[in-house]
Amino acid sequence: MEQVVVIIDLGGTDHSELARLIRKMGVYSEIQPHDLTADAIRAMPQIKGLIFNGGLNRTVSGCKVMPSPDILALDVPKIAFGCSDMTQIDHPEFSEAIIKTFLFDQCHCDQSWTIEAFIEKQTQEIRRQVGSEHVLLALSGGVDSSVVAALLIRAIGDRLTCIHVNHGLLRKGEPEQVIEVFQKQMGATLIYVDAADRFLDKLDGVSDPEIKRKIIGTEFIRVFEEEAGKLEGIRFLAQGTIYPDIVESGTKTAQAIKAHHNVGGLPDDLSFDLIEPIKYLYKDEVRAVGRALGVPENMVSRQPFPGPGLGVRCLGAITRDRLEAVRESDAILREEFERAGLADKVWQYFTVVPEFKSVGVRHHKRSYEYPVIIRAVHTVDAMTATIAHLDWAVLDRITERIVNEVPHVNRVCYDLTPKPTGTIEWE
Ligand code: XMP
Repeated sequence: MEQVVVIIDLGGTDHSELARLIRKMGVYSEIQPHDLTADAIRAMPQIKGLIFNGGLNRTVSGCKVMPSPDILALDVPKIAFGCSDMTQIDHPEFSEAIIKTFLFDQCHCDQSWTIEAFIEKQTQEIRRQVGSEHVLLALSGGVDSSVVAALLIRAIGDRLTCIHVNHGLLRKGEPEQVIEVFQKQMGATLIYVDAADRFLDKLDGVSDPEIKRKIIGTEFIRVFEEEAGKLEGIRFLAQGTIYPDIVESGTKTAQAIKAHHNVGGLPDDLSFDLIEPIKYLYKDEVRAVGRALGVPENMVSRQPFPGPGLGVRCLGAITRDRLEAVRESDAILREEFERAGLADKVWQYFTVVPEFKSVGVRHHKRSYEYPVIIRAVHTVDAMTATIAHLDWAVLDRITERIVNEVPHVNRVCYDLTPKPTGTIEWE
């Protein structure tokens, strides 16, 4: 078990910033709620230090809560930020240098938190947990489920069965890539379910975004359960839960603006025991693990993609012609962003096709076709976003390709709206 420095949440909003900084220095760090008991902390195998965080840049008094005397009495080095009313322990001004001194001079941590060490430890842990049993995984092809698949293949080989449900709302080339990489290259047992017609039938005529999301989420679970029901002797279900999912669901009170559905977010009443091998990792660490395990770069560096997929980018009631227009224009956008060196500089970019048409002219004749709207945003946490200032030359080229290559499209627009007031997605 690796050494750990625990961050106790005393009401700051920047615990993840701190945890990531510590991990970057080669020390594993975890965030825990303020009411964690001293016994729970003592039960951690190699606890090296405690950081009480009321806010890194809050220098005046002001933790929202105080830790219990029990925790303060623990015999490990301690430090506090944004909590100058905690007179029992040091509360210096936050800086990287202070963290370094704390970790290495006071806590005597070694720098054993590495990606290779994580992979090795998880491999052992998965083998220990699974024994000679079998594991099932819903493999969407997104970064998280792909990395979980790669880890499990390394740990238990063909005792992993992956189910890839193509709900017909995936990006161009995605199902093919999942099959190529996991089945052909890595030798996984992969069940591919082409459920596109089934999803599109269910969505036929449905225009309300929330109802669309619900249908997609529910139908996904049904298909998965049906497929899982055909298999025998599987005890475990693996999930690509990552650390922000855990930290956010533990602390966040923000009102949900949209019902987010992760087509991996399966209900817990499925009769499996859960395996969540990347649940303590941040996204950049998940990517690093994927790279180290040989998952192709274009899979590990993939931008976020909503569970309901292109379903929420084909606005209103989904039709096959507009869905294809979204898929084809998205593929062109991705190609051109790659070519222009923007793929890893812009956080998320995609296209949207609305329900209305506009008049245009093509080959000297009137046309009446759909517009494609481009969305490209920068953000840190997806809670707010600014638009990317793209070069006109890049926009010109993308426009030219979309209107010439994508059927039923005669116009391209660029969405200039930050979040707020727009959300990142259009539905
Ligand atoms: P919004 O549109 O709310 O999106 O500004 C913020 C981020 O969340 C993604 N998103 C989703 N992800 N299931 C997901 O897994 C969903 O239902 C969903 N809806 C939006 C969106 O792509 C953006 O990155």
